[in-house]
Amino acid sequence: MIRVTSEIRCLWLLAAAGVVCGCGRGAAPGSPAQGQASAGPVAGASEVAQPSGWDADLAIPPAHDLNPDPHVLEVALEAKPVDLEILPGKKTTVWTYNGQLPGPLLRAQVGDRVIVHFKNSLPVATTIHWHGLRVANEMDGAPGLTQPPIEPGAEFRYEFVLKDAGTYWYHPHVDSSVQVGRGLYGAIVVEDPKDPKAFGDDLVLMLSDMSLDEDGQPLPDDNGGQFGNLFGREGSVLLVNGKMVPHLKVRAGKQQRWRIVNAARARYFNLRLPGHRFVRLGGDNGLAARSEDVYSLVVAPGERADAVFTPADPPGSHRVMQWVPFDRGYGSTFNRPREDLLAIDTADAPAVTPAQIPVELRAIEPIVVTDATQKTLAFTIAIDNREVVMGFNGVPYEHAQPIEARLGETQVWRIVNDTDFAHPFHLHGYFFQVLDDTRIPEWKDTINVPSKSELSIAIKFDERPGMWMYHCHILDHAEAGMMGHLHVIDPNAPAAAGSASLPVHAHEARRGGDDEYR
Ligand code: C2O
Ligand code: CU
Repeated sequence: MIRVTSEIRCLWLLAAAGVVCGCGRGAAPGSPAQGQASAGPVAGASEVAQPSGWDADLAIPPAHDLNPDPHVLEVALEAKPVDLEILPGKKTTVWTYNGQLPGPLLRAQVGDRVIVHFKNSLPVATTIHWHGLRVANEMDGAPGLTQPPIEPGAEFRYEFVLKDAGTYWYHPHVDSSVQVGRGLYGAIVVEDPKDPKAFGDDLVLMLSDMSLDEDGQPLPDDNGGQFGNLFGREGSVLLVNGKMVPHLKVRAGKQQRWRIVNAARARYFNLRLPGHRFVRLGGDNGLAARSEDVYSLVVAPGERADAVFTPADPPGSHRVMQWVPFDRGYGSTFNRPREDLLAIDTADAPAVTPAQIPVELRAIEPIVVTDATQKTLAFTIAIDNREVVMGFNGVPYEHAQPIEARLGETQVWRIVNDTDFAHPFHLHGYFFQVLDDTRIPEWKDTINVPSKSELSIAIKFDERPGMWMYHCHILDHAEAGMMGHLHVIDPNAPAAAGSASLPVHAHEARRGGDDEYR
């Protein structure tokens, strides 16, 4: 992989927008982006603020903290339907946390404790899964594995400590393609006070979509029938933080740190903006080993991307970042146009010199795999009696036996995708490393596996025994059976203790029963 040095980075920015570079050279006097012939010294990014109201259209209101202890974030979350205006002038019944789309932002620092008083005011059972957080097994929200589904009207207390900095999210794990698709998702930002300030002001972007008709009414949950299951349902309305094409205000050269979460049930997001590059910092588990200059950020469902955005349009310009079709397999880009996603308004103020982004970000020790146990997991799709049945190694979730691991064991999972679609593989409870020297080392919990490809991941089951799930994060695929479970066994634990004594059937809340797969 070609490394782009910060000097090239700066030259490129200079060329793209006349943003003056601070690579140790003098400022280019009279550079067109400054817009003024008599330009004095150009300010550095750290010396100016974002334009006023820069994120007013996008900021996700935080959850109200009920606890005075600065190291405890204690919040109430209620899942409930509310009517919101998504299409202009139309009401849409959205399933929300606390009436907000996305749900309230949970922001805290690494090491803090989170307590969530959850109430289910939906007409159906639900749970909350804390995607990517290393919580104790009984807090993982996997119905039938770690807790019974939370029935309508019932409450549940979640509590955990934030072990890792990064960008995470929360969503239901019961009938998830329907529940997430109707709006139940929220972001979690775990800050590390040691992160360099040069990364810029932080902006959470939760990307999603919704299937609405022109009156704003949600299409039936099973729209498209078996084809919907097979392709995964992409909604017609693109949403950034619950809004269609919201506006972001920027100042040329003034960096922003974008924390991007793909909360869509099936859609991939491929972010790019002509004339711009991103400095990717990492994703699922916070910082990667090194930063990287990229032209586009592909974020698969469930994944996160953490990247510095440096506005490089001339002052006073307006433009729209578009969703770009991404080939996730069979016919997924055929005849599909680009779609507007996010409006970017560049303030009419002189460009500033972007701050330097460090290249070395974090030490990531490779997992030692010499004595690892090998497993192979193949995504599989079968058409059985006109019903699409998905699974791993030919077995749908209903009939799957758990993969076993002993506490402390390291395993290598070879993940094979011979199907015609890409699948984002997600594991609960543990971060893994992709065994691929061409990638910058980082910790992942969700990884895209393109059609007709395979990759291997290394996982160390070093703590928190119990029953954990893995699945495709195209949620229609997961619900069609592309899920499995993992039993991390503590050999020293008394037999039958802990979550493993719960019934190993997570499908009570799903439509249909075992019979349809026999
Ligand atoms: Cu984000 Cu099991 O899921
Ligand atoms: Cu899939």
